[in-house]
Amino acid sequence: MIRKVTKAVFPVAGMGTRFLPATKSIPKEIMTLVDQPLIQYAIDEARAAGITDFIFVTSRGKSALEDYFDASPQLEETLQRKNKTKLLEALKKTDMPSGAIAYVRQRDAMGLGHAVWCARRLIGDEPFAVLLPDDVIAGETPCLQQMVEAYQDTGGCMVAAMEVPKDKISSYGVLDTGTDNGSVVTVKDMVEKPAADKAPSNLAVIGRYILTPRVMENLNDMKIGAGGEIQLTDAIAAEISSHDGVHGYRFKGQRFDCGSKAGFLQATVAFGLARDDLAHEFRSFLHEYLAVRDAAE
Ligand code: UTP
Repeated sequence: MIRKVTKAVFPVAGMGTRFLPATKSIPKEIMTLVDQPLIQYAIDEARAAGITDFIFVTSRGKSALEDYFDASPQLEETLQRKNKTKLLEALKKTDMPSGAIAYVRQRDAMGLGHAVWCARRLIGDEPFAVLLPDDVIAGETPCLQQMVEAYQDTGGCMVAAMEVPKDKISSYGVLDTGTDNGSVVTVKDMVEKPAADKAPSNLAVIGRYILTPRVMENLNDMKIGAGGEIQLTDAIAAEISSHDGVHGYRFKGQRFDCGSKAGFLQATVAFGLARDDLAHEFRSFLHEYLAVRDAAE
């Protein structure tokens, strides 16, 4: 029987250097997409997929992230007194039952694989999800929920996958694929950040995973991979020959790379235009702004 996935790891211990100087004092995951921090999108997605245990792998300077999910009695009392029901409703999203969130520390940023390994004691002997909050995915059905449903048939490990242009492929883990039914592909090999001419396909792994506890065991080896870091990709690739193997899942939805400046800006436009309360004004602004710019060029 395939066990239900109820635990998720959120690795948030990276330094976010691409957003310096902002990330000197603000964790990247707290940066705001329209009116919610990136981490809120990831938490909402995990909840929709049935996750009940949230494990954050943090590091120095991330206390704003911990406070975000804390109760705020003074603020709530003020809003109640002023009858601001909509704002109170918005605050509810940040509400986490006692004990639902656990924080573990990654002492040194040794790579994504190492960050996930830091959660090993809390994961124990269960399958678990990993969500990278930098990857924000818009879609009718949240990405992890799609994956959890597909995982009921596959078991094993599953990674979210999407086609990526050749000039971008060397920034990703890349899949060498076997059978392919359009959404689920069997994985024959995985390579982290290959040179464009060495990439086995244009199908890249993005930041959503469902993993078996054996991946944690593989991470015990502390194998140094691409870029001198302990890579999650290598620990997952070691499961390809296992009984249930590794599957790629082509999710339905649009993924924004909010770990990069261009991706964050694109997400801001897309999520702004998707909001009923903002779309009209924002669309007119963009139209006019671009028309004026085009005319001046
Ligand atoms: P990234 O490499 O995209 O994030 O890692 P970063 O290192 O924070 O950003 P830049 O490249 O310096 O701008 C992907 C995810 O893995 C986490 C990051 O927090 C991010 O969510 N991560 C990465 C860790 O938790 N620990 C690490 O050692 C490395």
